[in-house]
Amino acid sequence: MMDKTAFDAAAPERVVDSPLCGAPAFLLDRHPPKVDFAADVLEGLSRPQKQIPPKYFYDARGSDLFERICRTPEYYVTRTELELLSDIGPDIAGIAGCDVTVIEFGSGSDAKIRRLLDALPNPCAYVAIDISRAALERAIEDLARDYADLTVGGIVADFTTPVELPPEAFSGGKKLAFFPGSTIGNMERGHARQFLADVRATLAQGDGFLVGVDLRKGRDILDPAYNDDEGVTAAFNLNVLRRINRELGGTIDLGKFRHLAFYNEADGRIEMHLQSTADQRFEVAGAQIAMTRDETIHTENSYKYSVPEFILAAESAGFCAVRTWKDRQSLFSIHYLAAV
Ligand code: AVJ
Repeated sequence: MMDKTAFDAAAPERVVDSPLCGAPAFLLDRHPPKVDFAADVLEGLSRPQKQIPPKYFYDARGSDLFERICRTPEYYVTRTELELLSDIGPDIAGIAGCDVTVIEFGSGSDAKIRRLLDALPNPCAYVAIDISRAALERAIEDLARDYADLTVGGIVADFTTPVELPPEAFSGGKKLAFFPGSTIGNMERGHARQFLADVRATLAQGDGFLVGVDLRKGRDILDPAYNDDEGVTAAFNLNVLRRINRELGGTIDLGKFRHLAFYNEADGRIEMHLQSTADQRFEVAGAQIAMTRDETIHTENSYKYSVPEFILAAESAGFCAVRTWKDRQSLFSIHYLAAV
């Protein structure tokens, strides 16, 4: 559980208070604990199976590379979800109804939220929750400009712990939480279930949760999706070492690592690793690290779910599955869950 005291002690900071047309109506800063890149990397590299958390992929270059991954022919995830969202817009609108407040966990893909907002009959507010204040400000300013009738707000917070929602965001209508991109796949299965329960706790009975989940499927599709021919995913994976060199005074020779990604079918997850191609030593933040040839640093898990498997997790977290959509090739799923 999170530290409730720290959460309550942090006074929400009201940065913008004028609900002017085209300006965000509010930005609440919950002051999430600062991420400690050095401590997380040193701790991860001291384990028997070395690891680096995937959240550290996304510096400026890593975010660019991720966008390029989304445009590779092999990475079907983003393209499939976007197309599916457009196709099912009228269905979603029919279930969600009018006067909805959309709450997005993360403020990543502008294209997806716009598709959802455009599909809804007349949404009354949009609230994004993101740990990066800079990313959040950029995202909500862009949306406020283009959706002048919408109350747009942001909350700076770590959405992987429970987030309290400000009452001013809600004018009585239903809430619709939105978590696209199969970002939930980065969580261990138990953590994903806990996350679902935390989201449920911020909603009232009858509110909705629209979540995009990548489906279990064959290696023939999954392995290439994380091993694109152009090497963009490899560059994305290796970029975390470059970031360590730059930000943590690392001395890592990127030429002595190779990108490794494979589908672990038993666990239903893609694993990404950085594999050492030689016995080597390097320094990170003043610490000496040794690796043997072929040893790996585990950099990401991307869990896949069957439809019944995800619905079971959602139901155990206090939701009922109102409707599930898949694309024609059964690559990706979007679930509309209702809080019970
Ligand atoms: C952003 C976590 C959904 O797991 O597919 C893409 C990240 N890693 N290619 C995924 C990712 C390598 C992506 N998620």
